[in-house]
Amino acid sequence: MSDTQNRLVSPAPRPDESFDPALRPVRLVDFIGQDQVKENLAILIQAARQRHEPLEHVLFYGPPGLGKTTLAHVLANEMDVNIKITAGPAIEKAGDLAAIITNLKGGDILFIDEIHRLGRAVEEILYPAMEDFALDIMIGKGPAARSIRLKLPRFTVIGATTRLALISAPLRARFGAVYRLDYYDSKAIESILRRAASKLNIEIHPDGFEEVARRARGTPRVALRLLRRVRDYAQVRGNGGSVSREIAAEALNLLNVDPLGLDEVDRRVLHTIIEKYSGGPVGLNTIAASIGEEPDTIMDVVEPYLLQLGFLDRTPQGRVATRRAYEHLSIPYPDSTQNQARLF
Ligand SMILES: Nc1ncnc2c1ncn2[C@@H]1O[C@H](COP(=O)(O)OP(=O)(O)O)[C@@H](O)[C@H]1O
Ligand SMILES: [Mg+2]
Repeated sequence: MSDTQNRLVSPAPRPDESFDPALRPVRLVDFIGQDQVKENLAILIQAARQRHEPLEHVLFYGPPGLGKTTLAHVLANEMDVNIKITAGPAIEKAGDLAAIITNLKGGDILFIDEIHRLGRAVEEILYPAMEDFALDIMIGKGPAARSIRLKLPRFTVIGATTRLALISAPLRARFGAVYRLDYYDSKAIESILRRAASKLNIEIHPDGFEEVARRARGTPRVALRLLRRVRDYAQVRGNGGSVSREIAAEALNLLNVDPLGLDEVDRRVLHTIIEKYSGGPVGLNTIAASIGEEPDTIMDVVEPYLLQLGFLDRTPQGRVATRRAYEHLSIPYPDSTQNQARLF
């Protein structure tokens, strides 16, 4: 496992993190934040129920750890239907998908995670399946080959992706509803933490929640992970009673998660841009090579939060570190007279 995957603040699930059913919101009302998406989903659900129809195909996109998989389960619960879970890379051949789809019952949900990673041939059988609830199967080979059409029950595809841009236009067009999940504000993260703390029997002072929330990168998955580490620290080093802001801060400092939730990897990316490339612009591939990471990893799990904080700008020439990034790292920002001097 690479460093980036092992990060405490990684928005991706870590291998030791099992699906925690106790903490997963079951109903839409338990799902905190993302108010506009929730309101739209409530309408979608109610409309489908009133018409006694299956849910329309739904696509969720946005950074990892924000609740896409959770919402797919919530929709299945709300519609009271079965959910079958798969992922783009897991479906290798068109036949694999055909086997899954022909096992679905009317109204069932097929959740396809990382749907941007579906192969071309697989995608092509998905089009008629989603649009006409039909499966076109080729029988035989060569000149004798012919295609037969198999009727399917009406089912619902819920797709999830971190990369909307990688989804082909025809696939995207087959989703009736497309929702973007965004980073949570700290109030919402605090509510998620309060709910989890009460389920896990962790006593925390309101200041303690605030401290964990501020470092959680607007991401529920990260918030819940930090909460567990704070609990461990408080248990071993604390003096009983509810977890204070100081204890939460000490715990997270010791884990190298700074007050804004940045860790070593984030700081390495920023230091590279600022110190090796004079603040940029510098290309993503160059940054990735300098710190020995995959460009995709940087793009999916490091950059989004740095952009969100306003520490990084994306320009056509490459990434640029902003004044805020310099300030956060306590590096003097080169003022414009110095920039002028550099030019001449
Ligand atoms: N709105 C929310 N309220 C409470 N917990 C949440 C919420 N969104 C996500 N979570 C929790 O955060 C974790 C990551 O959510 P998940 O749905 O797996 O994210 P994604 O599929 O977008 O990567 C899960 O443990 C989930 O229970
Ligand atoms: Mg997921």
